[in-house]
Amino acid sequence: MKRKDILGIKDLTRAEINEILSTANVMRDMIDRGEKSSALRGKSVTTLFYENSTRTRNSFETAAKNLGASTNSITVSTSSVQKGESLVDTGRTLDALKTDVIVIRHSVAGSSKLLAETVNASVINAGDGMNEHPSQALLDGLTAKRHFGNVDGKKVVIVGDIKHSRVARSDAILFGMLGASVTVCAPYSLLPCGIDGLGCDVETDFDKAIHGANIVIPLRVQRERMDGAYFSTQEEYHEYYGVTQKRLELCSDDCIVMHPGPINRGSEISGDVADGINSMIVEQVTNGVAVRMAMLDLLVNGDNRL
Ligand code: CP
Repeated sequence: MKRKDILGIKDLTRAEINEILSTANVMRDMIDRGEKSSALRGKSVTTLFYENSTRTRNSFETAAKNLGASTNSITVSTSSVQKGESLVDTGRTLDALKTDVIVIRHSVAGSSKLLAETVNASVINAGDGMNEHPSQALLDGLTAKRHFGNVDGKKVVIVGDIKHSRVARSDAILFGMLGASVTVCAPYSLLPCGIDGLGCDVETDFDKAIHGANIVIPLRVQRERMDGAYFSTQEEYHEYYGVTQKRLELCSDDCIVMHPGPINRGSEISGDVADGINSMIVEQVTNGVAVRMAMLDLLVNGDNRL
């Protein structure tokens, strides 16, 4: 891979996506065998998260350690950000500390790009506002590919709070590039303008959208990004847009359910679906470590660094 940063799926070529996924597949087999690597020995990876995270932050740190790198974690709530330090100045400080990779999550779209333009370190976007979450889409792609072998021609339905979701954008672009057909589904209030520009179908009737689906991806309602009411009650939302066992009967027989997490049972997904045989939610978490190992290895040891 010949690039300094990974900021979004839309920046990646199909060849780069395939390179990350095939490397991640090897990494996943390594994880299953309990093996570690020294590919990043002597390198350091810093996580800089301005928003909460359980899965992404921990899996980047686990991935870095699995490859022999040292890790540093900047907790924004206890860092000099609280004293007014800007993102650019924080980035310059991390550069002076000679970190090799900065993994950033920020509430503002474009913040990872700003950081990447500021620092010599490689930058990985771990979610910027409502823009992109590339490592999530890549781990979703890996999970689907490992399950089906190939996602070319599969029907992917992404349902829920599309408007506030960076995962919806990154997944729609990625699965489209892998040859799947993508439908996004939400009430009008949770559909952003221009979403069809990503090449996906748009539907407000979930029972219609889910028909024949091979992959269903429910998304959490992101109340923290909402400034008003987008639907009446959680019960009504679940009735019309929740992924339930009854709705899975409308899907293809081989259908899988993926969810980026965190899940809200009884809202976008019922508890029995989350824990059921179609659910890949736990598998996604382990694949997240594998994908992030691949991203770190390819960025740090890629051709641009030789
Ligand atoms: N999917 C995801 O980004 O989860 P976290 O917010 O826990 O990192």
